[in-house]
Amino acid sequence: RGAKGLPQDLAGRHVVVSAGGTREPLDPVRYLGNRSSGKQGYALARTAAARGARVTLVAGNTELPDPAGVDVIHIGTAGQLRESVLKAAADADAVVMAAAVADFRPAVYAPGKIKKQEGQEPEPVTLVRNPDILAELSADRARPGRLVVGFAAETDDVLANGRAKLARKGCDLLVVNEVGEHKAFGSAENEAVILATDGTETPVPYGPKEALADTLWDLVAPRLAGPGR
Ligand code: CTP
Ligand code: CA
Repeated sequence: RGAKGLPQDLAGRHVVVSAGGTREPLDPVRYLGNRSSGKQGYALARTAAARGARVTLVAGNTELPDPAGVDVIHIGTAGQLRESVLKAAADADAVVMAAAVADFRPAVYAPGKIKKQEGQEPEPVTLVRNPDILAELSADRARPGRLVVGFAAETDDVLANGRAKLARKGCDLLVVNEVGEHKAFGSAENEAVILATDGTETPVPYGPKEALADTLWDLVAPRLAGPGR
């Protein structure tokens, strides 16, 4: 046990956590963003470090300070997040995708600010799909024993959607959050169910994001391959 009496069950492990929202630029002054605060991912990074892990935190837009004792890489777009996560994941024991990755980006980036045209309505914005980083990590089993964890934010049929998403994405664990006006986004609390490919379903009662983070690491630690290095 470490100084704070926490289990050091992630000692010798490298874990990668992505957090916060990505921003997809339209022009030099505008972007498409989302409401992710980054709090859940930051809580995951802090708790993993407290349990002995070497932590790489790939952070999208957030107002949170860099956690102590964690390697933080700040990124903007989903493309940049993908590059940083895949690079850090090369020697990782676990990758947790808590980031809210933009599903779409503007098809064209205007290098100059888009201006109003007298008497004209604006051009519609065409969107294209971003690569699915979680699916890519899950499909890449070249490094056996690397555990992949996804997050899902759902509004209706939360469990059914979560189970379908776990199967579709191919990750090992999926944290399913119900989102609504007052849930998850921006709040310091969270409520979730953690689904595992072995059929285990772990409910996490409404509480601090730190508590959810600790429950997730409780599920991750025994599933890691081999001894820590
Ligand atoms: N994710 C990702 N790359 C993307 C989109 C999402 O890696 N381009 C990851 C997120 O970090 C999260 C998980 O996929 O861990 C699920 O995100 P979610 O938005 O709930 O799922 P999607 O497959 O994008 O489905 P939906 O159409 O419901 O948004
Ligand atoms: Ca999505």
